Amino acid sequence: MKSFDFYSPTHFVFGKDRENEVGKYVKENGGSKVMLVYGGKSAKSSGLLDRIEASLKETGIDYIEWGGIKPNPVSTPVYEGIEQGRKEGIDFMLAVGGGSVIDTAKAIAMGIPYDGDFWDFFTGKDPEGALPIGVVLTIAAAGSEGSPDAVITNDKTLDKNGAGGDCIRPKFSILNPALTQTLPPYQTACGISDIISHAFERYFTNTPDVEVTDRLLEGLVKSVIHEGKRVMEDPDNYEARANIMWAGMVVHNNIMGVGRDQDWNSHHLEHVLSALYDVAHGAGLAVIMPSWLEYCATHGGETRIAQMATRIFGCEMDFADPKRTALEGVKAYRAFLKEIGMPLTFAEIGAKKEDIPKLVEMNHIGDGVTGGFIGLDKQAHFDIYEIAARE
Ligand code: NZQ
Ligand code: ZN
Repeated sequence: MKSFDFYSPTHFVFGKDRENEVGKYVKENGGSKVMLVYGGKSAKSSGLLDRIEASLKETGIDYIEWGGIKPNPVSTPVYEGIEQGRKEGIDFMLAVGGGSVIDTAKAIAMGIPYDGDFWDFFTGKDPEGALPIGVVLTIAAAGSEGSPDAVITNDKTLDKNGAGGDCIRPKFSILNPALTQTLPPYQTACGISDIISHAFERYFTNTPDVEVTDRLLEGLVKSVIHEGKRVMEDPDNYEARANIMWAGMVVHNNIMGVGRDQDWNSHHLEHVLSALYDVAHGAGLAVIMPSWLEYCATHGGETRIAQMATRIFGCEMDFADPKRTALEGVKAYRAFLKEIGMPLTFAEIGAKKEDIPKLVEMNHIGDGVTGGFIGLDKQAHFDIYEIAARE
């Protein structure tokens, strides 16, 4: 196991109706003038926003609304939010929504106190500081409620990039699983696909002797598969939703990723898909993650993928031919994704085979090699997209 620092200062507030306490937590964290960031329509139409605003008013906290944030969030509303936030003297960012809303709030939080262009933080510069951020989560998926990351697409260049730093970990995150009961089945399944991918990006490593985190990740994926099937059959099942919501947080606040190299290649391969075709991140991952696994299973990664196949999917280990076991595991994962209604091919998400050279270019890999588990050069990127584009 490698040496590591793990710092996760977010206060998690979990359970039914807990969003009604939001004013108290904003106040405790020094907020007096809040920018209330939300998405397209769900938070408004469900009445959630009214409840949040009532709690803020009750606590004597002033706020402005910053709504209309779309999935796969782009840079323009961030620039506008920074300008508006400065004008209004905003001192606290409150995100009510999923990853897209939270990441927009995080980007505005970094941008308001910064003299330069906020995009600097999405092209390698470490954040210098940020306004405090609070979250009321409405979808279990991206894990941004506990992560030090934000992902934004530059709407001029179509670069979908990440920024990271402990200053953008939320001060508090309110997780009421009942709020996710209004999600359409497709969005619930997208979340499940993203959560499992966040486990796999950590699981597939060459770092030896990481048995504790291996077993935590395996247990998490098995639970999410179990609860995922339950929730698809019974969307109002609070307990299944509660387990999935907590899984989405713990898998991505990195407690299961410490002490080991990670491999985020499949996220990078996906981010260009969601930037180009505006496909939901979890749906893009359902197409890419098994394609990446299939590639790795046939390019030197078979032993660890076979371990995943046996321990998670109960495949029988073929010691003479671990590649066969590994590919059985990939097949089982695809079958699960299909069962919950996820796409598996380019055609199902509207991606085009003839765009593959463009997609590879958008990854900006040049002559280099990316990844920690199996290094991927330009040709490997082509090969993985080809697998995904297979009918
Ligand atoms: O806009 P509204 O009307 O709210 O609809 C949203 C949106 O259409 C809907 N939704 C959310 N909660 C709902 C609901 N509909 C009904 N009832 C509810 N309770 O769901 C749709 C998707 O929302 P979005 O916020 O985009 O989902 P998600 O949480 O999957 O976030 C995806 C974004 O997060 C990024 C992704 O790349 C993508 O841009 N990621 C962020 C990460 C991070 N910050 O750590 C890590 C992830 O790997 C990921 O890359
Ligand atoms: Zn993700």
